[in-house]
Amino acid sequence: MPTPRPTYDLVIAANRLPVDKVVGDDGEVEWRRSPGGLVTAMESVMRTQPGAWVGWAGDAGEAPEPFDEDGIHLHPVPLSTDEVRDYYEGFSNDTLWPIYHDVIVPATFHREWWSSYQTVNRRFAEAVSEVAAEGATVWVQDYQLQLVPALLRRLRPDVRIGWFNHIPFPPVELFAQLPWRAQLLDGLLGADFLGFQRQADARNFVRACRQLLGAQTKRDRVTVEGSHRQVRAAAIPISVDFHGLEELAKRPDVMARAREIRESLGDPKVLMLGVDRLDYTKGIRHRLKAYEELLSERRIGPPEVTLVQVATPSRERVDAYRILRGEIEQTVGRINGELGKIGAPAVHYLHHSYPREEMAALFQAADVMLVTPLRDGMNLVAKEYVTCRHDLGGALVLSEFTGAWHELHQAFACNPHDIEGLKQTILRAINTPAKDKQRIMKALRRRVSDHDVQRWAARYLAALAAAPDLPQAEPRN
Ligand code: ADP
Ligand code: G6P
Repeated sequence: MPTPRPTYDLVIAANRLPVDKVVGDDGEVEWRRSPGGLVTAMESVMRTQPGAWVGWAGDAGEAPEPFDEDGIHLHPVPLSTDEVRDYYEGFSNDTLWPIYHDVIVPATFHREWWSSYQTVNRRFAEAVSEVAAEGATVWVQDYQLQLVPALLRRLRPDVRIGWFNHIPFPPVELFAQLPWRAQLLDGLLGADFLGFQRQADARNFVRACRQLLGAQTKRDRVTVEGSHRQVRAAAIPISVDFHGLEELAKRPDVMARAREIRESLGDPKVLMLGVDRLDYTKGIRHRLKAYEELLSERRIGPPEVTLVQVATPSRERVDAYRILRGEIEQTVGRINGELGKIGAPAVHYLHHSYPREEMAALFQAADVMLVTPLRDGMNLVAKEYVTCRHDLGGALVLSEFTGAWHELHQAFACNPHDIEGLKQTILRAINTPAKDKQRIMKALRRRVSDHDVQRWAARYLAALAAAPDLPQAEPRN
């Protein structure tokens, strides 16, 4: 008889596993850390509690066998080449992603993509139901898996189901464009508790249920039609592993590397930094435009001021991402060609992923951190930057269109659409006296330290445990 597979009291399901399988030209298999904030946050949470992580290993074809890594049980779910194209690149990242991010680029609707999304969500629900112990807590993550809650409830009515949206939830006027809007809402209403980054996101969801499903709603609760179940939708903003990252940033080798980075850039007076996935939501073009204008107006310039832009490769087969990469690289080329100097380029552009140590060193080296998204669920880079500034140095320029801004009010706030305003904010971040900047940095760090990722997970799991919030049973006669 085959030995039964182990089951787990805590199971998380996310489109991606924390590691990606990469097969080299020589057929050699290598596991690399997956990109994005979801993985950064959930990995820190799962390392401190036993559980299983159900997700895709990042390449098409058969899934690797389940395995354990750093105390987490990883349970890979396969995606075929067509599913990578239709479910992942198509429906998740070319239909939902633009709709959920204010339609910064137009969304594409294809019925085959939707069909693939349904198939893959079903597969995830089945995989979760295999590894979840009786009465387990299942925590579903993000927009790629919105049908899993209802599908899983049908397969496993015994488990408690939560879902957390790492990205914004759009206003009903935009969400209503989706031809499959009712199915998506029904999918989510299979959960006991739904978590969002901002109150506005939770409110958008409740309003969509009321207006598009005709569901009864009261404050943060939606009553599911045909049952007496109530689903609560509330904001629990995600964060970073403050103490773990701060400890890393205090390591002498990391601090030495920060000094080395500045030296190798010619010890500029002001080092500005941008760190983003190469995504149109991040406002990289707006940032470069403001920077280019400041240079050409000679208000700043190399070698005294320089910019390092780290742009992580992302979703490279989706058209909007391919086009963006071309535009960014052309702009960087133009800025350096016209405004750089020999030995002092105006922009250092790096299209790579780096180890955590190198990121921490970069954050410490930077005098001004530019976080200028047009729309972002949270933006963990902003929180990572302040976490790494135990020296109280540096200044954070932060877009009002990020979840992070709702917590980090003291930062140098900007509207990235307002290029003139963004330029003024950058100059202010450079010129504010060091003493005032230290005071600001202290306040920002206190906020992140008091609201770290461990506290986020504990709050989320407590809210999920308190659900479902059933109405009082009718007294029997
Ligand atoms: P998103 O999830 O949209 O990519 P976040 O800012 O929330 O945006 O999270 C990005 C995460 O990826 C952060 O933890 C950040 O440190 C990490 N990251 C971004 N760029 C790189 C890079 N080039 N190398 C390594 N890690 C990166
Ligand atoms: C954001 C999303 C995550 C996603 C990450 C990286 O953080 O919220 O769900 O994993 O971006 O994107 P990718 O498409 O490479 O997984």
